[in-house]
Amino acid sequence: MRAEKTRAERERLIVVSNRLPFTFKKDGAGAWRAEPGGGGLVTALLPVLRDRGGMWIGWPGTAGDASELKEALASAGTGAGYRLEGVSLTADEMDKFYLGFSNQIIWPLFHDLQSLCNFDPAYWRTYCEVNGKFADAVKAHTAPGDFIWIHDYHLMNVAAELRRRGVTSRLGFFLHIPFPSPDLFMKLPWRLTLLQALLEFDLIGFQTVLDRRNFVQCTRMLAKDVQIEGRGQVLEARVGKRTVRIGAFPISIDYGAFQRRAASPEVTAKAQELHRLLPERKLILGIDRLDYTKGIPLRLKAFENLLERYPELREHVSFLQVVVPSREDIPEYHRLRSEIEQLVGHINGRFARPGGWVPIWYEYRNLSRLELLAYYRAAHIALITPLKDGMNLVAKEYCTCSIEEDCVLILSEFAGAASQLYRGALLVNPYDIEGVADAIRRAYGMHAEERHARMRRMRNSIREHDVFWWVDSFLRAAITRDLSAFPQPEGHLEEDASEYQLPF
Ligand code: G6P
Repeated sequence: MRAEKTRAERERLIVVSNRLPFTFKKDGAGAWRAEPGGGGLVTALLPVLRDRGGMWIGWPGTAGDASELKEALASAGTGAGYRLEGVSLTADEMDKFYLGFSNQIIWPLFHDLQSLCNFDPAYWRTYCEVNGKFADAVKAHTAPGDFIWIHDYHLMNVAAELRRRGVTSRLGFFLHIPFPSPDLFMKLPWRLTLLQALLEFDLIGFQTVLDRRNFVQCTRMLAKDVQIEGRGQVLEARVGKRTVRIGAFPISIDYGAFQRRAASPEVTAKAQELHRLLPERKLILGIDRLDYTKGIPLRLKAFENLLERYPELREHVSFLQVVVPSREDIPEYHRLRSEIEQLVGHINGRFARPGGWVPIWYEYRNLSRLELLAYYRAAHIALITPLKDGMNLVAKEYCTCSIEEDCVLILSEFAGAASQLYRGALLVNPYDIEGVADAIRRAYGMHAEERHARMRRMRNSIREHDVFWWVDSFLRAAITRDLSAFPQPEGHLEEDASEYQLPF
């Protein structure tokens, strides 16, 4: 163990993701300014990047030549404590690689929404070219002993491109979104090439054992000569002479930091202010990026159904739905926004009373950190009902910020977080409008004792398996010789469980 640690400590960590953890914009005087992107991934990787001397390679968030940004990248990197390297993408590449292949093929297909896919062959060609560009950047800035950790569905071909360029460094990959079942994956015209490209990594990480099982099944169908063995958190595949590790590493949040900030006097005051606006009323909260995978229209219909079938709850509940703008250049996202806004108008038009109760408060904007935490703390019920989600960190953030442990999480059984929080959350099928309405009613009437017990269970699990645990277990799985050190983490769903047989 000691020898392995020393080896890990010597290696630099190179993180590669589509977006850098900063976005770069020109200020009034025409100079480039870096704005921190925030997010749990940066927080979690920061200590490792600083300790080992690391680098982050990615797209700086603006079309055009990254060499123009050289200075801004260097100074943002100095401030952050690790190097930043930009990969420039042209407007056409952004269009076909990011908006096209990544977000109109992989995103819908991997979220079980095949009917929204646009299988344009030009998208695939540009995806391969752009993954090649990322590989060029990685090769130019790394040395043989580095550990290179590549993130998410935009960059699934990077290992194959690196191997083609003769890079022999160890390569890890983590997929932040779900991996689909074979029925769906087989629809992808480039399924075999993509699967083989993934098998060029040394370690492939998924969010849940269900995603990992889907990947294993696809591999068994498409690459018959690959043998996969093992139990627990990490499996091993024999691919020719190589061994590829395949694990489930549920991503998480910085529990300590969230809890501390949620308990601050500013957040407490803002949460109390919200309660004053809602006397005698329970606040139900939904917070999502604008995305059709989040199930927002069906959730609104479930809320309408609740008001219809349980009129005694009218005026006793308010639903605050926050939608954070996202991917606005994709037509499907525009359509979704109109659909949501029409539904909100329709439901409020049906039930609101002049000068009195408004059933749905709707906000379409980015929230400040203070507002976000205050909403989490103030809400009695969180309604998180994605049709499919890799993990859903809003669910974990909500529980963590509920420091009084006196509230209820209603969670889709198709969110990755359900594999971990199923013992505390009220699990729902997001397509079941009446079922979701009934769950809201149950949450509304739940006794304090049950609310506390459920919330405590979830918070304990999130505290134990926070984002630092996630980084550590991924990096250890890449270096350790002994996989018996990786049993399935306690309290998480087992390999042979099915999404449809979760204990309710
Ligand atoms: C998901 C993906 C991330 C992505 C994020 C925001 O969480 O897993 O890789 O960065 O959505 O989407 P965007 O398209 O704006 O990067």
